[in-house]
Parts: sequence; C-alpha cells; structure tokens
Amino acid sequence: MSTMHAAAPVVPFGTAGSPGTRLLAGPVASEGMETLQAHQSRLGERPATITLDELVASGLTGRGGGSFPFARKIQLAASRAGTAVVVVNASESEPASRKDVTLLELRPHLVLDGAVLAANVLGTRDLIVYLHSARTASTSALLAAVAERRAAGCDGAVSIRVVDSPAAYLAGESSAVVSVLEGRGPVPSLRPIPVAAVGVGGRPTLVSNAETYAHVALIARFGAAWFNAGGTQRAPGSTLVTLAGAVASPGLVVEIVAGTGVRDLLAGPGGLTQPPRAVLLGGYAGSWVPGEAAWSMPLDRDWLSAAGTSLGCGLVAVLAQTACGLAETLRLLDYLASQSAGQCGPCVLGLPELAERFRALVEGRTSRRQLRRIRELAVAIRGRGACAHPDGAVQLAETALAVFEAEVRNHARHGSCPGRLCVASSGLPLPAAP
Ligand SMILES: Cc1cc2nc3c(=O)[nH]c(=O)nc-3n(C[C@H](O)[C@H](O)[C@H](O)COP(=O)(O)O)c2cc1C
Ligand code: SF4
Repeated sequence: MSTMHAAAPVVPFGTAGSPGTRLLAGPVASEGMETLQAHQSRLGERPATITLDELVASGLTGRGGGSFPFARKIQLAASRAGTAVVVVNASESEPASRKDVTLLELRPHLVLDGAVLAANVLGTRDLIVYLHSARTASTSALLAAVAERRAAGCDGAVSIRVVDSPAAYLAGESSAVVSVLEGRGPVPSLRPIPVAAVGVGGRPTLVSNAETYAHVALIARFGAAWFNAGGTQRAPGSTLVTLAGAVASPGLVVEIVAGTGVRDLLAGPGGLTQPPRAVLLGGYAGSWVPGEAAWSMPLDRDWLSAAGTSLGCGLVAVLAQTACGLAETLRLLDYLASQSAGQCGPCVLGLPELAERFRALVEGRTSRRQLRRIRELAVAIRGRGACAHPDGAVQLAETALAVFEAEVRNHARHGSCPGRLCVASSGLPLPAAP
C-alpha cells in the first residue's frame, strides 16, 4: 500500500526548487545534488515495492520520446522467462535536451529509487544506469549517489552498474542500448522484437528513460491518485521540458503539468513576449509548428499526438523571427543523416538525399520537381527503417515545408529571406563532428 499524502498543489511550471513541482521539488539547482540523507528526510525512505495495479492506475507513460505506457512494458518483461535486466536510459542523445542530465545532477536518488523499485517488481538484482560519461557533472553526481546507497545498504540485493553510452544520436534507441550493453556498437536491432521481451543476452530487458523511473519513485510513495491529480486524464502527471534556441535561458529544464500552454512557458522561463517565428517540438526529429499556432497550444502529450505532433523527449526549441527555418532545418537534416547506423537502404540513401534536396531549396534551386521529389522521398522513407530514426527526419522535413512555405518562396525568388539571417543561427546545439 502506498503512503498517501495530501495532494500538493502542482504549479503549471517551475524550475528546480520551485514550490509545487514534483520531480524538481527540493533544493534549488545551485545547491547541486541532493544527498541520500536529504532525499530521505524530504521524501521518506523508498517503499520496498510498488504494485503493477498502482502502475497501471497511474497511467504513467515513458518520457524518453515514445510515450509508451510504463505498466505495459514492465508487464511484458515480467511475463517472459528468464531473469530480467533493468536499464535506466540516461544517455540523452538528443543534442539540445538536458532533462535527464539535470535529473541525474540534482535528484539522482529519485531516478535510482524508481529503478530499484522496477528491479524489485521484476525480481532481479541487475540494474544498469546507461549514461554519457563525458557529461562530467551528471556522471559524478550519479556515481556519488550510487556510492552513498552502497554505503547505506538501502537497495537490498539490487546491484547498480554504470555503463558508458557512446556519443551518437542512436545510442539512446532501446535496441541500440542493448547492443552496447552486449559489447557492440550503438546499432539498432533489425529484429522487430521489443527488448522488454528479448534484450541483453536474450533476457527480458526493461529499458526506460531516467525521468520515467523518477516518476515511479514518487508514485510508489504518494500513489496513482496523487500522480493523476496533476495534468489531464489522458496525460496525467508532470513532465520535464528543456527550453532551447531563442529563449532567455537555453538549456533550462522546467517541470510542467500537461496542459500548460506554450505561451505561458515561453512568456515565463522562456522570456518571450511575442510568438516566435516557429517552435520545434519533441526533438530534432520532431515537428515544426508556426509560432502563432504554437503560442496557443497546450503542452499535453495526448492533445499534441491528436494534433499530429508530439512532445517527444520534451524539447521545446524556439526559432526567432529573424532566423530562417529552411536553413535551420537543413542543418538538422545534415546532422540526422550523418547519424544513420548504416543498415537500412531507405535511411542510408534516403536521408542524405532528403538533406541534399533541402540544400537545393536553401540555395534557391526550387522547382515543382524538387518539391515533388521531397514528398516522394518522405513516402519512400517513412516506416521503412528498422528503427524510428528516419521517420523522425521525415517528420522534421515535412513540417518544415509546411511551416516555412514563405521561406521556400523567398529562397526561390531572392536566394534568401529578406530581413532574415539565412545561415543557421537559432542557437540549436549540435555535437562537434568527430
Ligand atoms: C533515434 C532514437 C534515439 C533515441 N534516444 C533516446 C535517448 O537518448 N534517451 C531515451 O530515453 N530514449 C531514447 N529513445 C527512445 C528509446 O528507444 C526508448 O523508447 C526509451 O528509452 C524508452 O523509455 P521510456 O519508455 O521511459 O520513454 C530514442 C529513440 C530513437 C528512435
Ligand atoms: S533505420 Fe537507419 S538508424 Fe535505424 S537501424 Fe536502419 S539504418 Fe540504422
């Protein structure tokens, strides 16, 4: 039975330490990692376990991008023969996203509590935290937290191993995670079998996002009804978003409840007073939304998916009025094409061609044929890869064509957009080329 607390008010959004936040409740960011002692005196000790019924009732969906119901995934892993492996996917390979590193840096015990609870549900000792160790602040905090737990002996038989994730966009894809854990490179599997059924060494493997486990830790303490008291019926609970691009504090991680409006988020921590040119939602393989339309949108996973877009990994990236969305999209498409794992034709051949066709638009070589070819390519690529990587690139390209129609015309007529910078200038970070 979970401990029931009076429902704390949930603010529409807040940063670390803001009253009413959930995952980010507690000390402010400048205080750094919350120690085990501070974590336990604030939230109490981790309950020994959580029931599957509680997880089902919570409606918790994964926060790594796909919004898959957590209870269904853990049920699948539990239904398979063999001892399961629990993996905290904290690789955060999305270049502008900072939510998982922020959680590890500030609240590592919340993530670890949730993952240990999942291990207890599955009756396994094997827990792996998979992170990118070049991010030294979050790695140090996580390692310190693991050491504190070992010294306190608070995780029973569960043993926590930390594994380095390669610096590659695909390194966070769940079957690529399994490939790395099996000693190979970050290459997605060509077999359409969920890793929850057959993962590391053929064992059922629960790969879930770091934020997802942090929610589990709170649901175990306060219950599904408490979790459901924030957000909406179909998108319950809070979620972390990273602000990026032309905002007051790029990289700032904000906790919101589903339904928080983009306008409120961008006028608050984002620091914007007017709708921007456009907003890229969900990640670099996400969707462009025109600034005016985005301004009145609720950031609700369910609402967004009904509107044909997605909150994905929670990235909200802003394109300034003075920037050129076409040039920016080309830069992101070049990056996404460079990250293919080189296994499936439509991805290996299709993504570079998609980027080249966009380069032609940016250089003013626009023609009906060019635009038609982009649409044909989208059809030829979508759904044809072994993983979802190429679909994301297609989504980015197609939404760019719709949202930046004026830029396409401007580039065709003038070779650039009058009054805009037609070099990529939005401040969206990309990893340095190796
Ligand atoms: C190209 C690609 C990259 C991904 N990168 C990440 C990542 O860095 N971190 C992550 O948690 N999930 C990532 N995912 C999603 C994972 O495959 C998986 O769905 C997720 O880790 C499951 O966790 P969740 O159910 O808690 O969301 C990626 C997916 C794709 C297709
Ligand atoms: S779709 Fe692309 S990234 Fe995914 S497995 Fe195939 S080649 Fe690799």
